[in-house]
Amino acid sequence: MPYTIEKVKELVREYPDFPSEGILFRDIFPIFHHPEAVECLINHFVELIKALNKQVDVIVGLDARGFLFGPLIAIKLGVSFVPVRKRGKLPGQLVSVTYMKEYGPDVFEMQADGIKAGQNVVIVDDLLATGGSCKAAEDLVAQMKGNVILNTFVISLVGLEGDKKLKAPVYTLIKC
Ligand code: PRP
Ligand code: HPA
Repeated sequence: MPYTIEKVKELVREYPDFPSEGILFRDIFPIFHHPEAVECLINHFVELIKALNKQVDVIVGLDARGFLFGPLIAIKLGVSFVPVRKRGKLPGQLVSVTYMKEYGPDVFEMQADGIKAGQNVVIVDDLLATGGSCKAAEDLVAQMKGNVILNTFVISLVGLEGDKKLKAPVYTLIKC
């Protein structure tokens, strides 16, 4: 059955009290139980990026769930995919940034040859919460003198105002 984007949204499941009491966890993995839903979601993001009418050179995906969407979007656009990973996972010359997670500081890294000066970048992740992770990714791209032209998310937790931390515009499919 072909999916509409509204039907794809309905596949996101909510889990009260996960991973700890008081947290309502949104799980995007059920989308991946349905290949046509994944296709619909990826096409939605691809069309959105094409509609910018700007050259896009690199899709950057955030560890770990940005890796589910980023490469699929990059393939359809015919551009490169570059991962942002948590500390200690990437070899070679790296750029790094420290950022705040719920329980303290963490480090994000990116391979230094992933982005060339002046390249246009779209950042992709499953969910925007406080914005700390995506802001760190924006900082890494800036260290390589790339330009983030859009940050894209499947879900944003709007009450946390993560978008206010970000320099580039934000697109979110599901605001909750
Ligand atoms: C989650 C989510 C985002 C980030 C959002 O990932 O997938 O990447 O948190 O939070 P923020 O906006 O407050 O920074 P997490 O760091 O839990 O890693 P995971 O994908 O490896 O589970
Ligand atoms: N789902 C997935 N990742 C998250 C969430 C959530 O609801 N909140 C913070 N990170």
